[in-house]
Amino acid sequence: MPIVVLDALMPTEQRLILSRRGSTVWEVAGPRGHHAVKLGYPIEATGEWPAQPWTALAPAREGAVLHRIGSGEVAYGEWERGTWNFQPWHEGPDLYRIWEPCRRRGSSIAPHYSVALGCVEALAELHVRGWAHGDVQPAHFIIGPVRTHLIDLALARGGQVPESYDFPFRGCLVHYEAPEIARSVLDIGEAEPTQEADIYALGASLLISATGWRAVEYPDDAPRAVQRKAVANGRRRPVKAPGELGDLVDAMLSQAPEDRPTIYEVGKALS
Ligand SMILES: Nc1ncnc2c1ncn2[C@@H]1O[C@H](COP(=O)(O)OP(=O)(O)O)[C@@H](O)[C@H]1O
Ligand SMILES: [Mg+2]
Repeated sequence: MPIVVLDALMPTEQRLILSRRGSTVWEVAGPRGHHAVKLGYPIEATGEWPAQPWTALAPAREGAVLHRIGSGEVAYGEWERGTWNFQPWHEGPDLYRIWEPCRRRGSSIAPHYSVALGCVEALAELHVRGWAHGDVQPAHFIIGPVRTHLIDLALARGGQVPESYDFPFRGCLVHYEAPEIARSVLDIGEAEPTQEADIYALGASLLISATGWRAVEYPDDAPRAVQRKAVANGRRRPVKAPGELGDLVDAMLSQAPEDRPTIYEVGKALS
């Protein structure tokens, strides 16, 4: 962990949460409380993928976004290999994990609307401020005891971020990518995150968490571009979320962005 972060947080306990291409996340406890520390570094090119220098910038970009939307104690800066941030730690399971019992074979456990509503409220908080998240997925909703938190704001759009930490949006996880985003990424290599695309991603997140099924059908091992093409063509799987969630999720997954409900309408339908 960079010395500036150690100096600022003086950890008494630290746990490595995740270390993958371009990103490392720590859970840290100390005199200043409980924080998530994120470190970014560039992804070098290999035979399988091109270099991805922007992963180095992601933590600082996220730090700037969190700062803008006034999200608790946040700091960010640079280290030898890229950028870092720390932010409040949010305790709790994510959306995918909390609905695990609903996905068990033969399960009669229905997904709790209150959980869905918590996710909606977390996304609504961002939308009402004029931001789009850009990377809505089940792992990014942390279901806390008091409220649900939407994390990983590295790709969010809606306000000023420092130019030196900014980078183009090149799509998100294909399972949650709206058709118009997939199309744009296929056409020009980038896209514009929107609130309508967030709604699609929330619909896909609720669907996969409740049923285990992706919204669109494509082979797991297909190359990314082939998966994107399937999403762009909108080959929806004939799978429905249980109960009244079903029709709502279907509407959220509409092909045309203007046919999707707003986050306010989704919240109203759920409550
Ligand atoms: N503020 C936070 N509170 C709790 N857990 C977090 C927090 N930030 C990140 N995490 C954990 O680390 C994982 C990766 O964080 P994320 O912000 O999604 O980073 P990445 O940019 O690498 O996807 C999350 O899925 C979550 O488990
Ligand atoms: Mg993430």
